[in-house]
Amino acid sequence: MQNFASDSLKKKKFIVFGGGFSGQYFANEIKKLGCEVLTSSRQIKNNTSSFVFDSISKALPPEYIFEGTTHILSCIPPDKSGKDPVLSRLHKKLKSLNLEWAGYLSTTGVYGNTFGEWVTETDTAKPLQDRSKRRLQCERSWLDSSLPIQIFRLPGIYGPGRSTFESIFKKNIKVIHKPNQVFSRIHVADIANAIIYLLLKINNKNFKQIINIADNYPTSQVEVIEYSYKLLGSKMPKPINFDDAKKLLSPIALSFWEENRRVSNALLCKDLGYKLIHKNYKSGLESCLETINLNNITL
Ligand SMILES: NC(=O)c1ccc[n+]([C@@H]2O[C@H](COP(=O)([O-])OP(=O)(O)OC[C@H]3O[C@@H](n4cnc5c(N)ncnc54)[C@H](OP(=O)(O)O)[C@@H]3O)[C@@H](O)[C@H]2O)c1
Repeated sequence: MQNFASDSLKKKKFIVFGGGFSGQYFANEIKKLGCEVLTSSRQIKNNTSSFVFDSISKALPPEYIFEGTTHILSCIPPDKSGKDPVLSRLHKKLKSLNLEWAGYLSTTGVYGNTFGEWVTETDTAKPLQDRSKRRLQCERSWLDSSLPIQIFRLPGIYGPGRSTFESIFKKNIKVIHKPNQVFSRIHVADIANAIIYLLLKINNKNFKQIINIADNYPTSQVEVIEYSYKLLGSKMPKPINFDDAKKLLSPIALSFWEENRRVSNALLCKDLGYKLIHKNYKSGLESCLETINLNNITL
């Protein structure tokens, strides 16, 4: 975590809806700055910093968890009908809190297919997949919520415990070559760090409502997988051509290959001055590898 003058966040209380991969990482980081943080999950967890929230069930979180809340971050994807799980159940409650800030983790899927071109926040969202149409609907609900909302559009998220290494170890990695196809990505540490950076920088002049958080280097899956094998001291299996691989992919996996875009981080990194921890997948993967005990792993 970069060193910020973090006093302005001390003693703030955050609720993170959806304490999954990114939500829990963010919670751990913001806690280090002296903030109180509660995270939600759909199952009871045995700790005092989490509570149960499941938009499908009728039960709402207990009242006391909201006391003193100044900030919220929602990391929960849209429900099947395109409604936002947090807003559909808790909008009225959240409005009553006089929040200082509300964050929402969205996806760069809302941009649709740019045929490999760079895409920025000022480009019109043209979602291709139904799930991305639902996502755009949720973004709009947050924008219309009259909460002090800031939306973060994210490409493929990876980090410790969720990277190409895990797929290699589980032997379910598919090395697929599709000419000119790239993916953008972001290390989970940069999601948390960038949000915290922006929280500390917020003032009316430079507040941006929609921000991409992506690294500098969109590239092919093959390049990333090849580097992962290299770091493991092993050789990557021969890539399969996309046309042959199609029948091996699930419909959801296949849908990711129907879109090809380079997500620009110029607003975040140039205009707003954020410095990425992991500028590209190489640095990100090297740090993931440091967290892995390779002793019991056979390739
Ligand atoms: N993964 C990616 O590559 C990627 C890329 C771009 C954007 N995103 C989006 O960014 C956000 C964070 O991603 P992530 O990968 O960190 O998420 P994640 O690990 O899948 O966590 C999602 C969280 O949402 C909770 N949740 C799901 N449905 C819920 C419901 N109906 N009611 C209440 N809680 C519910 C889950 O609860 P449990 O803890 O009980 O499971 C979990 O805590 C998500 O909206 C995701 O769609 C993800």
